[in-house]
Amino acid sequence: MSLIWLILSFSAHLAECVPEKPKRSALNQLTRTLLRKYDCGVRPVHNWTSTTTVYIDLILQSVLDVDGKTQSITTSIWYRQVWTDEFLVWDPDEFDGINEISLSSDAIWIPDVIVSEFVEEGKSPPIPYVYVNSSGSVKNYRPIQAVLACSLEMYAFPFDKQNCSLTFRSWLHSVKEIDLALWRSAEAIASDKREFMNDGEWELLSIPSQYWQIRQDDTDYAHIQFNVLIRRRPLLYVVGLLIPSIFLMLVDVISFYLPLNSGTRIAFKISILLGYTVFRVNLTDELPVTAVRTPLIGVFFAVCMALLMLSLTKSILVVKLLHHSEKEVKQMSVSACLLDKYGSAGHGFTESVLTSIKTLDHIHPSADYELEHSPEEDLLSLNELQDAPSGLEWLLGELASLRQALSQEDGESAAQAEWLALCSKLDRLLFRLYLLVLAVYAGTLLLLWASWSFN
Ligand SMILES: *[C@@H]1O[C@H](CO)[C@@H](O)[C@H](O)[C@H]1NC(C)=O
Ligand SMILES: *[C@@H]1O[C@H](CO)[C@@H](O)[C@H](O)[C@H]1NC(C)=O
Ligand SMILES: *[C@@H]1O[C@H](CO)[C@@H](O)[C@H](O)[C@H]1NC(C)=O
Repeated sequence: MSLIWLILSFSAHLAECVPEKPKRSALNQLTRTLLRKYDCGVRPVHNWTSTTTVYIDLILQSVLDVDGKTQSITTSIWYRQVWTDEFLVWDPDEFDGINEISLSSDAIWIPDVIVSEFVEEGKSPPIPYVYVNSSGSVKNYRPIQAVLACSLEMYAFPFDKQNCSLTFRSWLHSVKEIDLALWRSAEAIASDKREFMNDGEWELLSIPSQYWQIRQDDTDYAHIQFNVLIRRRPLLYVVGLLIPSIFLMLVDVISFYLPLNSGTRIAFKISILLGYTVFRVNLTDELPVTAVRTPLIGVFFAVCMALLMLSLTKSILVVKLLHHSEKEVKQMSVSACLLDKYGSAGHGFTESVLTSIKTLDHIHPSADYELEHSPEEDLLSLNELQDAPSGLEWLLGELASLRQALSQEDGESAAQAEWLALCSKLDRLLFRLYLLVLAVYAGTLLLLWASWSFN
């Protein structure tokens, strides 16, 4: 008898030492009770005519990439959906006061609400649980990193705004079975920027949302659309693209102050053009690529290049004209002499030739002046004065011819100076014209960009 009692007490002692099995825990019991007869393939309503309303909420966390070529935008969002599951209801008092419990999301019914703009499901981490409370409210929270199709308008780059929509809908169920609604108020969602990573390239303006139903094949489908309005921060591009460009244009403008006849101006302009080409080639990757419409910045670069070419062409023209003159002046003075001789003799000359003579006379009046005091007269007077020895005569002759040559050169250089002055005048005129074109261009561009970024 005592032996039996001993064995009994020993076994009781043993039982005390063995820990309570997890099967008996309240959490375990509740989960088993809830899922015992649960069929995850059936919409959780008692009466099939009642609708399951899914409340959805969205928080934009960041805009990772905006790709103009594929017309897509990569975003990271926190998505929340809440609905009522009529079969997941319990009395907390029966289960140790448990009010909320997490269940495997594979074990229960989940609505098929998706974003219709999905291009590819990004690298969203899988969340295997949902949270259920005792009145059957199921909370399904998950982060989504998604690539969305979005019609991107790159025309005003880098001062652009984008409007990308996320449309949530049940892909299969009509509004009679699954209806959608916003969890928070539309205003609260629109102005919620707490979680948005605001240090990136994009600034979140707001997320307006709207609900509507679409009729397809006599069935209504519920939609909720969030329009993500973002604006690009242009500073990076202004510093990296626009300012260097503007600097090069300014240097080009300043190069007009290089002396016209030094010959360095064209070399200088060509090096600017070369520098600009290299700069452009380096930046082709940074520019957005769109098939439909060239961004304004592409036009800006092309026009800058065209202006540089124009300024180079203008300089070449003026320099060409300047060098043209040196040869021409001589030829023209010769023809002027001929004209002086034969013009009085009554030979017929066309009017155009006459006008050309007039302009020539205007160009080098000093040369004419020098010719009046021709050195031959001096030589004659010297000859009259005395009969010098032949050696001295020869020397005098040499001196006279030297003086004649010198005076002729003087006349030529004076003519050249005049010509240079004329060319400079032309240069200044063209410069002013160029500045005008530049100003009109800059004004137009600024206006276009301003109208795009502040509309
Ligand atoms: C389901 O609900 C509808 C209206 O809400 C009601 O007319 C119908 O009798 C209900 N069916 C059942 C089986 O309770
Ligand atoms: C369950 O959650 C829903 C939504 O969050 C809430 O309205 C309801 O009061 C909760 N029920 C209990 C019993 O806490
Ligand atoms: C954004 O686009 C949607 C349609 O795609 C349009 O309804 C909405 O008005 C647009 N929002 C703005 C601010 O342009």
